[in-house]
Amino acid sequence: MNNDAITRAKDHFGRLLADQMERMQRIKAMPDWIDYATISPIKVGILGGDGIGPFIAKEAKWLLSEVLKDELAAGKIVIEDIEGLTIENRAEHNKAIPDDVLAEIKKYHVTLKGPTTTPRKGDPWPNIESCNVAVRKELDLFANVRPVVVPEQGIDWLFFRENTEDLYALGPYGIDVDDDISIDFRLISEPAADRIQRLAFESAKKQGRTRVTCVTKANVVKTTDGRFLRRFYEMAKEYPGIEADDWYIDIMTAKLVDEKRRRDFQVMVLPNLYGDILTDEAAEFQGGVGTAGSANIGKQYAMFEAIHGSAPRMVKENRAQYADPCSMIRAAAMLIGHIGYPAKQKRLEAALDICGNYERKLVMTGRDTGSTGRDYAEYLMETMQDPNVEQRLKDFQAAKAGA
Ligand code: IPM
Ligand code: MG
Repeated sequence: MNNDAITRAKDHFGRLLADQMERMQRIKAMPDWIDYATISPIKVGILGGDGIGPFIAKEAKWLLSEVLKDELAAGKIVIEDIEGLTIENRAEHNKAIPDDVLAEIKKYHVTLKGPTTTPRKGDPWPNIESCNVAVRKELDLFANVRPVVVPEQGIDWLFFRENTEDLYALGPYGIDVDDDISIDFRLISEPAADRIQRLAFESAKKQGRTRVTCVTKANVVKTTDGRFLRRFYEMAKEYPGIEADDWYIDIMTAKLVDEKRRRDFQVMVLPNLYGDILTDEAAEFQGGVGTAGSANIGKQYAMFEAIHGSAPRMVKENRAQYADPCSMIRAAAMLIGHIGYPAKQKRLEAALDICGNYERKLVMTGRDTGSTGRDYAEYLMETMQDPNVEQRLKDFQAAKAGA
């Protein structure tokens, strides 16, 4: 037995634990939810990202600025670009987020972020941490909220993915113990489990939803998932009007494709990695990850992003102008609702639904067989400016459901 290796691993683990215990203190001392109604101006930052990111970010910013034009004119909101969150700059500083960029990001209440390249072993870039994950950790964006809605199939799901812990918390800090053994660490803490579950139950209550489902693998992963699940049922007692149940991730993955059962699910709350996987599957029902937006919400900051990658190949093949901006525009719509303008969010989402799911006057294929992102954004703009846009959407939905 190699005692040196064991000692080294123990020390490593000890250091990680000390950091995490400090983090627990920080979470407990965290101020309560920011109230956007009391802030002027609300500062919105745009992070273009890598690859197709800057192309789709430009279109998303254009629509965002149009929807909020009165507030911009009145000085209630400002929208600005934040530079430097590119893979080249991150690689140069060998950091997931260079310090000056992070300081800049923290000056904005909310950000809209394009996809960023996540290097992995073997890439030409240094194997730095995913910058999505780093932003989530740095700004303590503990809730990854992902809606999936397909009205004609009766699907109306809202996922609350815990966003700061699980295998992601210590993802870059695993250890090769010796020549044979590698270990990663999975962390679930009570404060983090509680705050995501609180948000899931509170949102369910506010929206009049009647069921919240917790997804784990607590039969096998007994300690961490065990805690997550135990806290779920304890909290559920505070919400007697809401049915609380739980499923294991494997069968849950199957039930989402079960036509007889899937409409029964309403709100799902789950640890980070299960949430990562299940929300990709769920997004497929509404047209794939390219059509889904994601909200990363914390008590002080929030970041909204497309859930797909940066597609460097499209840029290399000179096709970036054909990249679909819809996922990022959906993220922009969520941002608008989050800072206090739900009616404006609805208009933009109605335009996205009409153009993408029903009318489809323009279609994006990712190449010159389809529309460019620019033309598509103009199509969305025109659709959104129709004062009857929401009624039009309802008509389309009714026609499809009746067909
Ligand atoms: C997502 C993405 C990220 C994640 C990647 C890019 C690190 O898949 O937002 O779901 O795993 O969270
Ligand atoms: Mg993912």
